[in-house]
Amino acid sequence: MNLKIQTLSGYFHEYQKSVLEPEKFWGRIAETFHWKKKWDNVVDWNFEEPSVKWFVNGKMNITENMLDRHLFTSADKTAILWEPNDPNEAHRTITYQELYDLVCQFSNTLKAQGVEKGDRVIIYMPMVPEAAIAMMACARIGAVHSVVFAGFSSTALADRINDCQAKMVITSDGNFRGAKKIPVKSVVDEALENTTSVEKVITLKRTGEEVTMKEGRDLWWHEAIQGNEGPCPAEAMDSEDMLFILYTSGSTGKPKGVVHTCGGYMVYTHFTFTNVFQYQADDIFWCSADVGWITGHSYIVYGPLLAGASMVMFEGVPTYPGPDRFWQVIDKYKVNQFYTAPTAIRALQAFGQEPLEGYSLSSLKVLGTVGEPINEEAWHWYHAFVGKGKCPIVDTWWQTETGGIMISPIAGITPTKPSYATLPLPGIQLTILDDQGNELKGNSVEGNLCVKFPWPSMLRTTYGDHDRCKQVYFSMFKGYYFTGDGVKRDEDGYYRILGRVDDVINVSGHRMGTAEVENAINEHPKVVESAVVGYDHEIKGQGIYAYVIADTTDRTEENLIKEIKLTVSNIIGPIARPDKIQIVTGLPKTRSGKIMRRILRKIANGEVSNFGDTSTLLDPSVVDQIIEGALQKA
Ligand code: PRX
Repeated sequence: MNLKIQTLSGYFHEYQKSVLEPEKFWGRIAETFHWKKKWDNVVDWNFEEPSVKWFVNGKMNITENMLDRHLFTSADKTAILWEPNDPNEAHRTITYQELYDLVCQFSNTLKAQGVEKGDRVIIYMPMVPEAAIAMMACARIGAVHSVVFAGFSSTALADRINDCQAKMVITSDGNFRGAKKIPVKSVVDEALENTTSVEKVITLKRTGEEVTMKEGRDLWWHEAIQGNEGPCPAEAMDSEDMLFILYTSGSTGKPKGVVHTCGGYMVYTHFTFTNVFQYQADDIFWCSADVGWITGHSYIVYGPLLAGASMVMFEGVPTYPGPDRFWQVIDKYKVNQFYTAPTAIRALQAFGQEPLEGYSLSSLKVLGTVGEPINEEAWHWYHAFVGKGKCPIVDTWWQTETGGIMISPIAGITPTKPSYATLPLPGIQLTILDDQGNELKGNSVEGNLCVKFPWPSMLRTTYGDHDRCKQVYFSMFKGYYFTGDGVKRDEDGYYRILGRVDDVINVSGHRMGTAEVENAINEHPKVVESAVVGYDHEIKGQGIYAYVIADTTDRTEENLIKEIKLTVSNIIGPIARPDKIQIVTGLPKTRSGKIMRRILRKIANGEVSNFGDTSTLLDPSVVDQIIEGALQKA
């Protein structure tokens, strides 16, 4: 039995222990898992290189802890309750025994298709159980999965395939998403025209649409698995062997492949899942994220299944066929813990309380949020109307790089404050630094959020480019992991995340590099230069505002803007399409050529004065012209 915190004093006590004796603290928790060989040291680390190793020389397989281990006690327990996009289609219930069998069968299939330990496999799939099965099958044989959100374009997919030199792609013929049917296999086909490493593509039949199958390369899932039934031994993985790569955006152009390893990730996702949500043996847990994001990895697949939980996996969207879908699903499966994003809450809040009528939601015990700051209004709405005033809200702060939840209330135990992530979990040693790198001690301080001691599920490197990992996370403040977020610690020592301090924006909880969007915009042949910033958006949290210098001689501004939006959709995906584009004649640059984004951010937010020091601007009149253009648009 993993450590379960049950009282506030218990939390403080465990936190204290985790700081004073981290090795003992994590060693004791790790002992509750099944290891093929025990570790020598709990942790070896330095943040200079950086080099971080947990449970050094330990051997294990995460899927034995997610599947095999539960067969002794709960083979017939439900592991996955799958709710399809269309409520009229039959749902699926998969027990731990069935899941074990399916994962083994697909593991054998991967092997039969030549996938070996260490090979990279891209998963580009809808939210169906097979996506989780594919992830676990990779983990079982020691292949490294990299799930790519199925909304990304073929170019974005090709970039990821090339970066990790994937040997296989697992996909579906198409995806159902609300009222839409999206072709997926054809996106893969397009991506593969610009890659050379992929030898095999396995395609799951989901929508039944027509696809092209390339002889010798493409196989149907249902055909490939034939004859591969039966157990598949779990590969003995070193704690520090790669478990997966997940690409995420940063402040520079190209997304980076965040690398997570087996042992520490296993220990930490299980620990945080059971504690933060206070999951109990017969509870039904539902995280509404997509497996294409880290939230889906850690709190749909790994955390819950490690804990032997029963969880809901939902294929659809919150508003299809109507804005009551979430509430319908909660009542249908009697969900006890519900974990979603502030964007979804705000979008549903906009429909008022009517969609909630007729649903009891009485099974709910805990509500969670993740991915972006939650504004107080949305927090209160969630609390009052979804939680009926009786469910604690866990506002969980973490990142792709952190692997698991870092700052969060422990449900029902830590007193909450709207829009505060509250306190660090045991083992998480936070610090706030000013821009010069001085630690801001005590309460009522604000600055850069950093971590000074490793935790088991932290990233180990960025795939194929360790120096990038060092530069991005460990160089800004020597000796610390820098999160990229600004934070306030209030008079009670509670943490409130203020948002990114770098050039990363958070649109509907999706992380986007402004440089990445600019690069895509600049691909349009008429575009000369662009600058992208985030602005406050009522539903999405942040929207994308692009200032573009372009040649409009042979087309209208309106048409050009449409074309630019389409270009971005094609290059990255619809999630990166700018909300607003303003065609400008110049950008506010300093004499050294740096764009003063601070000014552009203010204008995007409707502020037209108080720009601070603008004396370093090469041509201050540019700012007036941009303001004039912005006011005309508004
Ligand atoms: O800015 C923070 C914001 O999301 C960023 C991480 O994004 P990503 O790697 O995509 O992971 C999202 C899901 C874990 C953070 O740097 N963020 C995440 N959770 C919160 C948050 N901002 C405020 N409050 C949160 N609870």
